[in-house]
Amino acid sequence: MDSSLSPLLIQFVRERLLAWFRANGRDLPWRISHHPYEVWISEMMLQQTQVRTMLSYYHRWMDRFPNVDSIAAASQEEILRLWAGLGYYSRALHIHRTARILAEKHGGRLPANAEELLALPGIGAYTAGAILSIAFNKDCPVVDGNVERVFSRFFDLAEPVKEKSARHRIWNMAAELLPKGAAGLFNQALMDLGATVCLPRNPRCGDCPLKDCCQALEKGTVGSRPVSADKKSTRRIHVAVGVLEHGSRILIQKRPPSGLMANLWEFPGGKVADGETPEEALVREFKEELELHVFCRDAIARINHGYTTFRVVLHAFRCSLHGGDQHFSLRSAVEARWVRRRDLDSYPFPAANRKLIQMLRG
Ligand code: ADE
Repeated sequence: MDSSLSPLLIQFVRERLLAWFRANGRDLPWRISHHPYEVWISEMMLQQTQVRTMLSYYHRWMDRFPNVDSIAAASQEEILRLWAGLGYYSRALHIHRTARILAEKHGGRLPANAEELLALPGIGAYTAGAILSIAFNKDCPVVDGNVERVFSRFFDLAEPVKEKSARHRIWNMAAELLPKGAAGLFNQALMDLGATVCLPRNPRCGDCPLKDCCQALEKGTVGSRPVSADKKSTRRIHVAVGVLEHGSRILIQKRPPSGLMANLWEFPGGKVADGETPEEALVREFKEELELHVFCRDAIARINHGYTTFRVVLHAFRCSLHGGDQHFSLRSAVEARWVRRRDLDSYPFPAANRKLIQMLRG
């Protein structure tokens, strides 16, 4: 281990944090019984999503899928429908695949060891540590963005937290600070401290149980911690999409079952090629993908969205059919449907398309 904390400091952090958590920890549904199934689903939903956003989904999920076997028996369509709106749909697909593996090989239960957990789809070091500590109370540290922020301030770390050496240090410190036998409580206390007090902007330092020993607070560097790595410029792609209405219905299409955003639904359209205007791209894509002849009526939105590895600029147009024939032939889309506007919510769409649906709603 390449960090060594003083026993007094370790005791201070443990006592203050656990006492604070007893009084201020959030009442969350998976914290009642800490059942491994509930902890797993909550951790999958909490990858990329905040507690307040995922809670209603969590309740609906538990009503419909109370255990591993009910997920394993469900279709991918149904799983995706329940997930619709939460984004990052690969998480739902990972849950589905994992449930089938658990049902087949593990008697429908989550394994209580890191090796088997890490072999399951969608479970990395963080999620495995969270499940092991929260559901099985194993002495495993967990470090996510919240914990990185808390530590970067408490120890006033000047190196970018996402760099390998800093990550390694933070994991080591988290392991050293972890009170044996109380890992679940301690980890959740750190998560809650990061989510409710040690906030990215306007942290509530006056309410922090660790303020007496926080090095960034003492040095006045809280606002500049954590240090972020130099941002590499992310790839930007331009996509044209069309809202094509016929009577009271809108045309949507389904993406292929593998590749980027597999199985999600979207408004027809595609990438704008070099030298092409978004309007030209849209007319071309409708023709290539659906054999529909459309023209652009008006630009309705220009939406910027950052995915994990690229940024998209979505140019959205209201369009109409040349000649009024609404019959399409599938080319690259696997399915297309004319759906009622109010039913759009029951289909899983990528995040930028969801923003467009919000705008259509006005
Ligand atoms: N974020 C990720 N996991 C969490 C948990 N178990 N409780 C609260 N916030 C979290």
